[in-house]
Amino acid sequence: MAKRIVLAYSGGLDTSVAVRWLIQELGAEVIAVAVDVGQSAESSGEDWEAIRQRALVAGAIEATVIDARAEMAEDFCLPAIAANARYEGKYPLVSALSRPVIVRHLVAEARRHGATAVAHGCTGKGNDQVRFEVGTRSLAPDLEVIAPARVWGLSREECVDYALKWGIPIGQSKAKLYSIDENLWGKAIECGAIEDPWADPPADVYTLTKVTATGPIEVVVGFEAGVPVGLDGISLDPAELIEKIGRIAGSTGFGRLDMVENRRVGIKSREIYECPAALALLAAHADLEDFTLERDLHHEKARLEPRWSELVYDGMWFSPLKASLDAFVRESQRHVTGEVRLRFEPPGTLAIHGRRSPVGLYDHDLATYDSSDSFRHEDAEGFVRLWGLGVATWAARQGGASGEARPA
Ligand code: ARG
Repeated sequence: MAKRIVLAYSGGLDTSVAVRWLIQELGAEVIAVAVDVGQSAESSGEDWEAIRQRALVAGAIEATVIDARAEMAEDFCLPAIAANARYEGKYPLVSALSRPVIVRHLVAEARRHGATAVAHGCTGKGNDQVRFEVGTRSLAPDLEVIAPARVWGLSREECVDYALKWGIPIGQSKAKLYSIDENLWGKAIECGAIEDPWADPPADVYTLTKVTATGPIEVVVGFEAGVPVGLDGISLDPAELIEKIGRIAGSTGFGRLDMVENRRVGIKSREIYECPAALALLAAHADLEDFTLERDLHHEKARLEPRWSELVYDGMWFSPLKASLDAFVRESQRHVTGEVRLRFEPPGTLAIHGRRSPVGLYDHDLATYDSSDSFRHEDAEGFVRLWGLGVATWAARQGGASGEARPA
């Protein structure tokens, strides 16, 4: 019996060639699975049915398109918001969040079709291979993972020739300038002119953050227990809300990142990201946490967040440490409820102009310097004396620090 392989299919050149290559080289039956995680039609330039048909032309015995947009939003973007997730303090994990969604579906399809392997189109230089493989192995250690692009040794031109030879339509991919990965959470752009880390990114890399707004735009984001639930008082489900705020923020040019990051495989790479929705929601959420989280919890959470982001970046979405951190993060979000007022100013700035919450820990009567002050000033004296008692003793007995002022 032929080996059955479920392939993560994008419709692009590499995964189309992979369908045929798996058939030719391994005598396999290939089931192509395309997962819609919210990549815009504009970036692929075609509809899902055309993508499905291409997989069949390439030789797949079956091709399925799975709409995972709601799943992406609810099971992946929401936890990322709660965790204030930004790898190396910047990158909101766009691609890293979509791979485990795709993995879940690959494994489910493999079970449904009695496949013994899954395959992906990643090369050996990136993080995505790590996420596909480690993710699959955490869910289904019995499944083999095959990475044709790591072994076939074909250059881009040879891939094009291979596709032409087998009559696989390749769309506009011949003229492709960049390597793009996109989903609801944003867009990652690599290759081409971007590979020179000194060079300005060419203007044509940006599609989600082209400025079309003519003036500032204010948006109020409502949160309940750490989850964004509405914009300007209108309730929206997570996928809609992400899309909508992404369009608004993007129209003001907000959401661009230009960074050099450390890939898991040891390579530094220059990346351009457009993530207007992610960066806006992360900013709003973090601000509301400033307002609603008790100090120790807030500080401890901030220490764990980079670890969460690193785990997700490194393909450890389904790991026990990640699950345990999730439990902490979930508990921390119980009172992150309220509204944050964002103001986008073209081109590209976001400022937070206000926040309010029925359970906020900001107490006006404690904070104020006016006469409604309820703070017990007399308590401060003893508190501060004890706080400094240790260093005062040290200074008296051992001479303290050399705190000499500079001569005037
Ligand atoms: N460097 C980013 C990451 O590892 C983006 C990867 C984009 N993937 C792609 N196949 N172009 O998450």
